[in-house]
Amino acid sequence: MLIEFQLNGKPTQVEAPADLTLLDLLRDTLGLTGTKHGCDIGECGACSVLLDGELVNSCMLLAPQVAGRQVITIEGVSGPHNTPNDMQENFIDSGAVQCGFCTPGLILAGEALLSHNPNPTRAEIREAISGNLCRCTGYQQVIDAIEVTAQQRQKQDGKAQVHHG
Ligand code: FES
Ligand code: FES
Repeated sequence: MLIEFQLNGKPTQVEAPADLTLLDLLRDTLGLTGTKHGCDIGECGACSVLLDGELVNSCMLLAPQVAGRQVITIEGVSGPHNTPNDMQENFIDSGAVQCGFCTPGLILAGEALLSHNPNPTRAEIREAISGNLCRCTGYQQVIDAIEVTAQQRQKQDGKAQVHHG
């Protein structure tokens, strides 16, 4: 069947079987392999993407469920000129990227959190990433990276307001 949706801000049309998962559509049909294939049963968060701004496990959705909706994958997250964005830089600087398998999902979990809650507590960050398993870092570095990103974005917003006000 033909599925039409917005993928990383671009109108996308793709033919796919109705029983294909969103994860397989992204990775195998569309070649976006930044979304990782982990447990396949909704428990690890490696396959996380944003669907209309909410964090979802793409292994638990069927491709037709995204029709008419907005999907953001890790390929849709970048800074100016295709460089890493501030969250990605902070993950690297904080030591939150070790094997990297969990990283795309954790970055998207961080982005989803900060879009709803720009100034989260560490407990709120921990809760927001609770569906994303990381076997390497012990999570502290991940929480640090998201916290620093929130603080930096708050400062920038503050400056922008002063500047424009
Ligand atoms: S691969 Fe989807 S939650 Fe693990
Ligand atoms: S960095 Fe290896 S699983 Fe998280």
